[in-house]
Amino acid sequence: MNHARFLAWTALVANSIAMGNATPVADSGIFEVDLISPRNETYTPQALMPIVFALQNPPLASTLEAAISWQLWEGNNRTSPGSVTDGLLELALLNLTSSEPLFVDRFVNTLAYPDGLWTFAWSLQIYNCSADERPARLISTNNTSIFTVSKSGQAPNLVAATSSDMCGTMEAYAFNVTSVGDACGVLGPSPTTNPCAATVNPAAASSISAAATAFACDPLQRSVNPNVTCPTSTGKSSNGAGQSPMAPASTLLTLLTMVTALIHLG
Ligand SMILES: *[C@@H]1O[C@H](CO)[C@@H](O)[C@H](O)[C@H]1NC(C)=O
Ligand SMILES: *[C@@H]1O[C@H](CO)[C@@H](O)[C@H](O)[C@H]1NC(C)=O
Ligand SMILES: *[C@@H]1O[C@H](CO)[C@@H](O)[C@H](O)[C@H]1NC(C)=O
Ligand SMILES: *[C@@H]1O[C@H](CO)[C@@H](O)[C@H](O)[C@H]1NC(C)=O
Ligand SMILES: *[C@@H]1O[C@H](CO)[C@@H](O)[C@H](O)[C@H]1NC(C)=O
Ligand SMILES: *[C@@H]1O[C@H](CO)[C@@H](O)[C@H](O)[C@H]1NC(C)=O
Ligand SMILES: *[C@@H]1O[C@H](CO)[C@@H](O)[C@H](O)[C@H]1NC(C)=O
Ligand SMILES: *[C@@H]1O[C@H](CO)[C@@H](O)[C@H](O)[C@H]1NC(C)=O
Repeated sequence: MNHARFLAWTALVANSIAMGNATPVADSGIFEVDLISPRNETYTPQALMPIVFALQNPPLASTLEAAISWQLWEGNNRTSPGSVTDGLLELALLNLTSSEPLFVDRFVNTLAYPDGLWTFAWSLQIYNCSADERPARLISTNNTSIFTVSKSGQAPNLVAATSSDMCGTMEAYAFNVTSVGDACGVLGPSPTTNPCAATVNPAAASSISAAATAFACDPLQRSVNPNVTCPTSTGKSSNGAGQSPMAPASTLLTLLTMVTALIHLG
């Protein structure tokens, strides 16, 4: 994990050097990550169970080289069937438009999950590039959301999960970026979180649902999601749909290739 993070970090620094800082670096503001789904609730088995985070002030994810790693397992058994051990969201590599907030999603097929308790564990990693510390200090938060899978539960509802009576229960972390050091953010003391600003309205919910279908209908995912009905191909790549899972991975690969090239040149 640390090795992967180091490579990603190197790649991003190399990217800003090689591309003359292609990614616009946002210089200050409050960056916040909120876990919208899954929550401490009982869900019916889902072909596309949503894992959704909200990023507030999304361009700062790049400034802080932010990434989220996540795992999912049944009960106390980290290797249970259906477990995910290597979930990774390289937030800094997403298309970080300034639209507020940005929803970052992944989908897990829980149709075959046995009824019972499931643990969703996640860790946010960012760099604090304060002037008096070199190299930048890695900050890592962690938390878990324990949910129940049961046929008597309810389908996940992202609009309800962010409603005024539910938004306060989100797991949330906020950081105050006060300036930019050598290509990364300098953090002040952590401010209080404001998860209620991360509202999923019906339009955002249907856009996340469309992303779910696009994800399931990606040729690489088809065998995992045979039960999802896909639209007939229009010849358009599903990578055009929002924060597609393939775009960051291929971008990272390109960057790593570039770093290797730079190392060979150097
Ligand atoms: C989950 O929710 C139930 C009911 O609201 C509550 O009793 C329980 O403490 C919560 N568990 C966690 C881990 O938050
Ligand atoms: C966890 O699940 C795996 C795969 O089904 C099984 O082989 C193992 O015995 C389980 N471990 C525990 C502690 O239940
Ligand atoms: C990034 O997102 C914006 C707004 O959604 C979109 O207009 C733009 O085309 C996207 N850029 C890329 C490279 O996907
Ligand atoms: C497909 O749906 C059937 C019926 O609901 C279910 O039994 C099966 O586990 C599903 N398969 C997958 C891979 O999700
Ligand atoms: C999770 O965070 C808590 C509080 O910062 C810390 O005490 C704990 O060691 C962390 N756990 C892991 C597995 O990183
Ligand atoms: C996990 O999230 C809960 C709910 O927001 C919070 O009370 C708790 O302090 C968090 N734990 C850690 C280690 O951050
Ligand atoms: C970042 O580092 C500075 C200097 O060490 C420290 O004052 C500040 O509290 C740190 N911020 C966070 C969020 O850890
Ligand atoms: C963030 O830091 C700036 C500069 O130190 C300060 O003026 C501002 O009040 C802080 N914001 C919050 C919400 O703590």
